This record gives sequence, structure tokens and C-alpha cells, in this order.
Amino acid sequence: MCGIIGYIGNEPVIPFLLEGLSRLEYRGYDSAGIATIHEAKLVRFRNAGKVRDLEAVLQNATPAATVGIGHTRWATHGAPTEENAHPHFDCHGNIALIHNGIIENYLTLQEELVAEGHKFRSETDTEVLAHLVEHYFTGDLLAAVTAAVRRAEGAFAVAVLCSKTPDRIVAARRGSPLVIGQSRDASFVASDIPALLGKAELVTFLADDELVELTRDAVRIVDFDGNEISRPPHRVRTDQVSIQKDGYKHFMLKEIHEQDRSVGETVREATAFGPSRLSILQEPIAPFDHIYLISCGTAFHASLTAEYMWERYLDVPIQSIIASEFRMRSPHLSEKSLVIAVSQSGETIDTLMALRRAKSAGAQVIAVVNNEQSTIDREADASVYTRAGIEIGVAATKTFTAQIAALGLLGMQLGKERLSQAEIDAEFERLALLPGRINEALQREEEIHAIAEKLHRATDVLFLARGELFPIALEGALKLKEISYIHAEGYPAGEMKHGPIALIDEQTPVIFLLSRGLAFEKVLSNMEEVKARNGQIIAVTDAIADPAVIRLADFAIPVPDVEGISRPILFTIPLQLLAYHTAVWRGTDVDQPRNLAKTVTVE
Ligand code: AGP
Repeated sequence: MCGIIGYIGNEPVIPFLLEGLSRLEYRGYDSAGIATIHEAKLVRFRNAGKVRDLEAVLQNATPAATVGIGHTRWATHGAPTEENAHPHFDCHGNIALIHNGIIENYLTLQEELVAEGHKFRSETDTEVLAHLVEHYFTGDLLAAVTAAVRRAEGAFAVAVLCSKTPDRIVAARRGSPLVIGQSRDASFVASDIPALLGKAELVTFLADDELVELTRDAVRIVDFDGNEISRPPHRVRTDQVSIQKDGYKHFMLKEIHEQDRSVGETVREATAFGPSRLSILQEPIAPFDHIYLISCGTAFHASLTAEYMWERYLDVPIQSIIASEFRMRSPHLSEKSLVIAVSQSGETIDTLMALRRAKSAGAQVIAVVNNEQSTIDREADASVYTRAGIEIGVAATKTFTAQIAALGLLGMQLGKERLSQAEIDAEFERLALLPGRINEALQREEEIHAIAEKLHRATDVLFLARGELFPIALEGALKLKEISYIHAEGYPAGEMKHGPIALIDEQTPVIFLLSRGLAFEKVLSNMEEVKARNGQIIAVTDAIADPAVIRLADFAIPVPDVEGISRPILFTIPLQLLAYHTAVWRGTDVDQPRNLAKTVTVE
């Protein structure tokens, strides 16, 4: 899941490339590199590590260059070394190529090119494309790149520079996202919009099996068969604020504190389109008799929460399935299937491929995305948008709670025949108060920072809950794993005695999510079982004053006592803060945790 950026214009290109790469760094931060052309000479700078380290290397770069490409890497093939960093060159240093994705048939192509005398310098799958372009180049870069990508199998977004055609950049995509930008006197290419904010006025999304040729004053899109494609550009929709830290130490902490706004705007958006407040889905959908929710990671936890909520609103079978496994199974799919693809980025390839499988079997697909115009948004039959704004922190926070709000409202809309007006009114009264209650939960940050001090030395942590809070326990465990590197597991509390209880001792903290409205007594018994084995208990609860909670919990974090869509959202906030502060105590890289990337575009 690398980040790609390119610019051809009249301004010095290096500052643009560096700023663009730092905005794309959440896509991968194993190495970074750029290539520019000045006076028909192709020059390259690369290094293992972060974009800020590349800046140091660039001291001797030619500031005058006005065309260039840049890359930040999430290593798939070959270790994160300078040799494996992009851009990759052809044999003679005339062609520079950057790539996001995986070339599945690279070994076959490499054998063919080595037999022809090409010399390879890296362990990557990508380098084969640079040599393939060289193999086909006879003066027309677009033709050479077209011939090369037609031979490639797998997912890719590439951008190519050639010293023999210094007045253009050629890019192509299949599977991995690419957006084209335009301003009065420049053209841009990037993996996603944040890199172009404040630079491009208009953007166009490249679809699969398309190429683009960028010059200073024009953008030309063709498909892999050379047919011209005309696609109206969009005006860039977003504000600058979302890519600044605003004085917070980390983007993750800023985004946690933005949830009153992101949930509030997602709910507001849902009620803006029509007489009935239940109008988050604007397109009509055909009748269905079963539902699948497909997604990955944090989005899967939002889908699982929806499965619990929707069973109250709908009388059809509902199942949330991890997208990569959806493709391994034989789910019953037909025209009567309604498939909900949940993804903040809208680019996660496992979810995209599961979506395509469902569509090919005749299913209707609704996308729930935070990224309008993303591939999943464009390929779905209808879309619901979360309005969380751009999320920079690799660990998803504000997009998760916005997803629960959007999915809750979508479920009510799909099942509105079964809901009384009183139930709908009561839910909207609670939602109207939710932003305030989120702020209430955020006020507990100092206490949570102190509890995290106790937690940060643990090696294993268990998260236990029942009912619709079980997916929130899974999410709490994922957040702690992702950014503090502590091994953590979420489990249904009732399942503990069937195995995980063997892990309990004074070293293993257990975090209980305990709500008056959800099998309260049963969860208290589970807490008794943990206490009986000297386990340390942290209780996140809406019953803070309950004598049993006071007796059993070593630490207790209160959340407002609310049912409906608000409950899973309010129980999430303390878990996000606990993970954040535990990571801060451990000194890990909170916004760019090791081995992770924000958008997973490889299978
Ligand atoms: C969550 O913190 C992770 N970044 C990851 O699990 C993420 O939720 C997953 O990759 C799905 O991403 P998506 O919502 O963009 O599809």
C-alpha cells in the first residue's frame, strides 16, 4: 500500500513532491524516493525510512526541476532498503517508475527480460515494469507503458518518467487507486486526494485498465486498448483543516477528539435528504431476503455491531463476514442478496474484490464509505457516506464511530416498516444529544492516562463484553494491538470460561465493557470469576456507582448510560483513549505504527 505522487508544471517540483509524500505517508513508511528530469537528465534520490529522512538526502538535488514523481513504500517484495526503494530505473537510467500494488507474474517477466540481457538491481516485483517499458520504448512513452501494463498480472498503479520524453508523465491503474489533478498550469497524479489538497482545483479518478498522459497543460485518458476516455473532473471537496494536527501531539488524538463533530455531521447528513428523517440511503433498492456485510479490520467491527443492531430492526438473516474470507466461502448469493460493503477508504482490495464477487452473482451492493468517489463508492449500486473528514492516523477512530452511526441509521431505514414512530423519535432524541455525550466521555482522558500508566507494562490484555458490546471489545483489542504492540484479544464474556480464563492471573489485565442494559448480572459473574483468579479488572461501564462494580473493579471508567445507536459509540471512546495513552507511555509511533498502512490495496 504505497503512496504515489507526480507533478508536471512550472513550479519547482521537489517541494511539492516532499509535501505530497508526507501527506501520503500513512499509506506506507518503509522507504521513500523521488525522480526528476532537468535538461533531459533523469536524477533519482531514495532512502530507507521516512520522508523526513529523504529531505536530508535532497540537499544536492537540482531545485530547478519542474517535472517529477515520488513514492513512499510499504514493503511487499524485498526488505525496506535503499536498493528496493522506488523509483526503479531501467538498465540505462532513462526510465523511472513508481508502483503501488503487486505484480503477480513478475518472475516470469523477469526471466524473459534477463534472457534478453536486462540487469536487475533490486528484489522487488516492481523493477520488472521499468525494464518492460524500456523493452517496448521506441519514442512514445504512452505506447510503451501501455504495452508493459498489458503484460502485468495483479494490482498496480504506476507512474513513469522518461528522459527522452521530458515533457510528460504517464500513469496507469488496475486495482490500486489513482487520482488525476489539474490546475491552471500544472497536472498532477496521486494515490489519493489528501496529497493534492490546495494544489489541484479539479480531480478525476482513473478507473481500472486506464492510462493517463499528463503534460503541463493537458490530461489525456485512454484505456488499455488505446481508446480515448473523456470523464468530467470534480471540484476538490474538502477543507485544509483535516490534514493539520491543530496543536495535538498526534493525528490519532486529534481525530479521537473530533468525534462529536464527525458523528454529528454523519447523523445530520442522514436526515437532510427527505421528509422522513430516515433517508441516509437516497437511492431506491429492490426487495431482498438476506443481508451480508463485508469489510476488514475496524470496518468489520462496525459491521458486526450493525449485525447486532439490525436484528432488532429487520426480520431477514444478517451476517457480517470478513471480506478476505467471504471470497474463500460459498455464501448464498442471488438477486435477493443485499450486500453492504463497509470501508472508510473505499479502496481496501479485499472488500473491493468481495464486492465484485457479490455483484457478479447478481447481488445489490450498498457501499458505506468515508471517501466519496473511491473505487468501492463508484462500483456499488448505491452509497451511504460517513462524514468524518480525512483520517490521517493509521489506527481508525472517528471513521469507526461514524460508521456505527451511519449503519445504525441505514438499518433503521431498511427496517422502518417494523419500527414504531415512538421508537424512531426516541432514537433521534438520543442521537441529537450524542455529540454532547461524546464530549462527556472525552472528559475522562486524564483518568484514562493514569490507568494506561498501569496497563503499559502488560504483555497480554483481554477485552470482554456481551451482546452488541462484544464487537466493541474486539475493536478495543485491535486499537491496543495496532499502536502499543501489546498482544490483546476481544472475547464474548460468556465464552471466557471455555478457554481464555486459562490466561487469567495477576499479570493479565482484563477490560470489561459492562452496561446495565446488556446482561449486567451475567457480566458481573464473569468479573467474579476473574477476581477469583487474582485478575486485574478495568471496568468501562454506565453503572459506575453500582456497589458490585465498585467492589470488583480495580479501575472503573464511566460512560453515559444511553441505549440505542449511542451505546456502542460511547463505549468505544474510552477504549480509543486507553490504547492511545498506553502507546504514548510505551513511546511507540502512534500515527504510523510499525508494519501497518492506512489503506490496504494488496491482497
Ligand atoms: C484500523 O485501525 C486499521 N487501519 C485497519 O484494520 C482498517 O480498519 C482496515 O484496513 C479496513 O480499512 P477500510 O475501512 O479503509 O476498508
